[in-house]
Amino acid sequence: MKLSKQDILKALETISAPGEGGNMVETGAVKNVMTFGDEVIVDITITNPSLQAKKRTEVDIMKVIHDKVYEKAKITVNVKVDAPEKPKVNVIKGNAIPGIQNIIAVASGKGGVGKSTVTANLAVALQKMGFKVGILDADIYGPSIPIMFDVEKGRPLAVDINGKSKMKPIENYGVKILSIGFFTQPDQAVVWRGPMAAKALNQMIFDAHWGEIDFLLIDLPPGTGDIHLSIMQSLPITGAVIVSTPQVVALADAKKGVAMFQQESINVPVLGIIENMSYFTPNELPNYKYYIFGKDGARHLAEDLGVPFLGGLPLVQSIREAGDIGSPAALQVDTPLSEAFKEITQNVVQELVNRNENLPPTEAIKITTMAGCAAVKK
Ligand SMILES: Nc1ncnc2c1ncn2[C@@H]1O[C@H](COP(=O)(O)OP(=O)(O)OP(=O)(O)O)[C@@H](O)[C@H]1O
Ligand SMILES: [Mg+2]
Repeated sequence: MKLSKQDILKALETISAPGEGGNMVETGAVKNVMTFGDEVIVDITITNPSLQAKKRTEVDIMKVIHDKVYEKAKITVNVKVDAPEKPKVNVIKGNAIPGIQNIIAVASGKGGVGKSTVTANLAVALQKMGFKVGILDADIYGPSIPIMFDVEKGRPLAVDINGKSKMKPIENYGVKILSIGFFTQPDQAVVWRGPMAAKALNQMIFDAHWGEIDFLLIDLPPGTGDIHLSIMQSLPITGAVIVSTPQVVALADAKKGVAMFQQESINVPVLGIIENMSYFTPNELPNYKYYIFGKDGARHLAEDLGVPFLGGLPLVQSIREAGDIGSPAALQVDTPLSEAFKEITQNVVQELVNRNENLPPTEAIKITTMAGCAAVKK
């Protein structure tokens, strides 16, 4: 059997290029097609850097050639990723908060799985990609962002903006930060009720001088309780990122986290799941991987729930150390860790772009009453 290049191109024309309005051949994604007898080599370039997108492209190409041209064709697909360094992020029109384009909540369900670590590194990676970034540390139980950014002693000043007194976020590594921790004593036990926490966070968003921000990341406390409902309902959150380890108990809680965002009264799009502590690599054996919490658990959960898998991060001592000394690992230049954070961050941005293209802005429920005196109103 001798395959013709024309037949292959015709088959490839039936695959639409994601988000680009046209088929794979029209948009120029197909760079080259070569045929030798019953062998085909297809060279293709895609802009979505996620592994899922790469796999999906390969599978689609093989399927159409087998279905439409020759079922026994021997196919090689070479996929090259050409992701723009700074993807375009659409502005959400009519956004409730002037200056802040996108709010991303980082949540987990289970505690200690790495929400704050992921938030800190996402922020730094986004900043390195050229975005303007802020973090709102909403962990009322144990705010850790000030330590992770080495600004524990930070006390936000009041600045006068058009006759109104506003809080000025503390800045480090080009990231603007406000934390519940700046306003409480480290060993002070604060008992928060949901509406109180929501009110405090509302003030940190609306009564703060953030300036222009592309991404405001919210580091949430662990859990999926009443406090989360109040926080979620009172802020116009663009999308949520769920962090989980591959361990069964963490996955069960991550599932509840996803369900919380998707429930009708909250309705915040889930951008995807990040797997933290995917495997352990000792410093002295950099090529070894020990799957101590199980393998691919979060990836499978994402598939089951039909939400994107955004990538995995290893359990390595340097991530913990970097957090403890207040210098997030994503600040490193061209190391495997900084590359891993960059890849995950690109996936988050890509999912956010998809979300903004396809869904309307998230609506928040305005808090109309005093802190603590019951509640939230539509
Ligand atoms: N991939 C990793 N490799 C090594 N250590 C990590 C990794 N991710 C997180 N850690 C460490 O694990 C601990 C818990 O992480 P972190 O504080 O980010 O979790 P969390 O989900 O925010 O916790 P909490 O629920 O208490 O807010 C920290 O000491 C952090 O440095
Ligand atoms: Mg935390």
